[in-house]
Amino acid sequence: MRKMNVAIVGATGAVGTQMIKLLEDSSLPLGSVKFLASKRSAGKQLSFRGETQTIEELVPESFDGVNLALFSAGGGISAKFAPEAVKRGAVVVDNTSHFRMDPEVPLVVPEVNPEALRKHKGIIANPNCSTIQMMVALEPLRQALGLKRVIVSTYQAVSGAGNQAMEELKQQTQDFLEDKPVDQWQANILPCGGDKKHYPLAFNALPQIDVFAEGGYTYEEWKMINETKKIMEDDTIKVSATCVRIPVMSGHSESVYIETEKTATVPEIQALIAEAPGAVLEDDPSQQIYPQALNSVGKKETFVGRIRKDPDEEKGIHLWVVSDNLLKGAAWNSLQIAETMYEMELL
Ligand SMILES: NC(=O)c1ccc[n+]([C@@H]2O[C@H](COP(=O)([O-])OP(=O)(O)OC[C@H]3O[C@@H](n4cnc5c(N)ncnc54)[C@H](OP(=O)(O)O)[C@@H]3O)[C@@H](O)[C@H]2O)c1
Repeated sequence: MRKMNVAIVGATGAVGTQMIKLLEDSSLPLGSVKFLASKRSAGKQLSFRGETQTIEELVPESFDGVNLALFSAGGGISAKFAPEAVKRGAVVVDNTSHFRMDPEVPLVVPEVNPEALRKHKGIIANPNCSTIQMMVALEPLRQALGLKRVIVSTYQAVSGAGNQAMEELKQQTQDFLEDKPVDQWQANILPCGGDKKHYPLAFNALPQIDVFAEGGYTYEEWKMINETKKIMEDDTIKVSATCVRIPVMSGHSESVYIETEKTATVPEIQALIAEAPGAVLEDDPSQQIYPQALNSVGKKETFVGRIRKDPDEEKGIHLWVVSDNLLKGAAWNSLQIAETMYEMELL
């Protein structure tokens, strides 16, 4: 059995920390592990499978002898170091948006398009967190009913913006509880670290994730639009998105409206979701059972409920889709890609 020498880039981050936890229980046969971050974190120690590991500073030589590198340290780091890792013999699974729309790079949700992995040239992109969970919910409906249109509104957790954004929300919440006036709350990161203005997220809802781009849509919204078409390999699907950050720590929720080619009853749609890989049906309004962000935390699955037919459009269906953005939306999907590649003998 071929042993995997694994490197995690961004090992101290919100995603990287989850990757380490998942790797501890992974089915991959591990040889060595290497945890990489910036100079700031070099020398810090952590425990992995009962042994002490030291965080190392990321440098090109970090990838010597590495077969698999899982990147989540920002697009700029991936742009610079992912090709370096490939040059030194590693397969890279990248969590950032940097390579996602590159036609040479497969963009993969293992439940949906694992065959795309066969075309890889060293780098595989992990889709955007909001896109991944929507794909898990919609693929079984697309397969059975055909998919013509998607209109999605997201309610995204702050952990999707990284560790510092989580700390900012905690501090603002504390300020609120101490009756500090809102204009004295610190807001330096959200809605988007790279943009001009910052607003508090505590007790708020911010209809901006990432910076604004063409047509009045944000990049996060364009990611959902473009990545859906690429993963489903169908440019004819009409997709529109509104992405909103809410003061939830982890677990992205989505209100998804779709129009299908064929009609189906609610029990038929529920049965399709119940049988779908990676999806869990939580849909019993009579018992107030529906997916909730809090309940999704720490779980790998995508939860689907509130399934309803549109009152006016015969082929219109509404769904509520929830998943842990740090797991299925990031760390788990990446590791699942690696495990799938290993099973397919691509690693
Ligand atoms: N959070 C999510 O749900 C999610 C989902 C999908 C994709 N992503 C993407 O994954 C990436 C990381 O996100 P995150 O939420 O984990 O961010 P984060 O909590 O801010 O962590 C960033 C990580 O990158 C490392 N890093 C920063 N600058 C570096 C450098 N110059 N060299 C080496 N390492 C460096 C940090 O190390 P230090 O601790 O040493 O600074 C840290 O480990 C982003 O590109 C993000 O878009 C995030």
